[in-house]
Amino acid sequence: MSKELRAGIIGCGKIAINHADTLRDFTGASLVAVCDNDAVRAKEFGRDHGVDAVFSDPDRFFAEADLDVVHICTPHPSHEPLVLAAARAGVHALCEKPLAVDVESADRMIAAADEAGIKLGTVFQRRYWPAARRIRAAIDDGTLGTPILGDCTVLIHKNRAYFEEDAWRGRWDTDGGGVLMNQAIHYLDLLQWYMGPIVSVSGRIATLKHAGYIEVEDTAVATVEFEGGRLATIRATTATDPSLGYRVTVTGDAGATLSVIESPIGGPGVNDVWAVRDAEEYSLPWSADTESHPPQAEVHRALKPYHALQVRDFLDAVVADRTPEIDGVEGRKSLALVQAVYESARRNGEPVPLP
Ligand SMILES: NC(=O)c1ccc[n+]([C@@H]2O[C@H](COP(=O)([O-])OP(=O)(O)OC[C@H]3O[C@@H](n4cnc5c(N)ncnc54)[C@H](O)[C@@H]3O)[C@@H](O)[C@H]2O)c1
Repeated sequence: MSKELRAGIIGCGKIAINHADTLRDFTGASLVAVCDNDAVRAKEFGRDHGVDAVFSDPDRFFAEADLDVVHICTPHPSHEPLVLAAARAGVHALCEKPLAVDVESADRMIAAADEAGIKLGTVFQRRYWPAARRIRAAIDDGTLGTPILGDCTVLIHKNRAYFEEDAWRGRWDTDGGGVLMNQAIHYLDLLQWYMGPIVSVSGRIATLKHAGYIEVEDTAVATVEFEGGRLATIRATTATDPSLGYRVTVTGDAGATLSVIESPIGGPGVNDVWAVRDAEEYSLPWSADTESHPPQAEVHRALKPYHALQVRDFLDAVVADRTPEIDGVEGRKSLALVQAVYESARRNGEPVPLP
């Protein structure tokens, strides 16, 4: 990179650490300002990461910090106003997943970014796992053939403390959804990356394990039809204890079946099934975690190298004036899928078409 980019972080909570550590290790970009509407948290985060310019007011942050890039690490409904503020200030925005809580909001963000000429990125760092990319490459080079059948299975554990630790979790207005919107969306992103575009979705959701202290779904099932009548299933729950993990499987019309699994949670994805005639074996066994869900900080730490790869791509895109690999349009796709499951569930499982 030729120019030292001035980067800021807004939302100084748990995942912001991955962004700050990633920026510290880069040449070509520096973390110069941080903002959190909790002033104490902003100050502590600034101190921990050697940043003097600390803000608790987003308007002042965008007006005074003289940023090239902002990393948005706040809860879901605040992503839209902050991306719009970044667009008004001419600051490129890398936004944590999900891009927004509904596609209408995502569309306003994408339009504002386009009009302002800023880059908009959505963080889906698991796409940077070598195992996830290996499947995409097997689709691109014809090893798999056209993906005709897919599955996304999410069998994880969350306890009451997880939902109560951050007040925004588990509520429709502040979280935007449950296991689909918050946890499964990384893997729904992989499923649609391998199999998209989506034509229609049928689904059901329920709150079966955590009822009483969350209002969003903890359990969901769905079927997805992709262009050309190709099909996939989704099963997701935060009710299993111990966590079994996350898995995306695709079968292609060349006869191959490939899958990527995150188990134990926080480990890098591995291809536990690589069923390609005469191919080198990538197989690893499905291993049940004997603990419950590991501490979030540990999971985040393990994901840092993949955050780093996505941040690198985003900053390179800013400098080279090209589209980032996972831009707003890409980020919108898994969000549209989640929203369609919710809509279908409201209509007792009726198929919901996706334009
Ligand atoms: N990519 C991943 O693997 C990953 C992992 C965890 C979380 N996330 C995403 O990152 C985002 C943040 O999650 P988290 O777990 O770090 O949350 P968190 O609650 O730990 O931190 C959020 C911070 O944002 C601050 N905040 C809230 N609204 C704000 C506003 N309008 N302006 C400034 N600050 C504001 C809060 O005070 C808090 O400090 C969410 O979108 C979440 O889904 C992504």
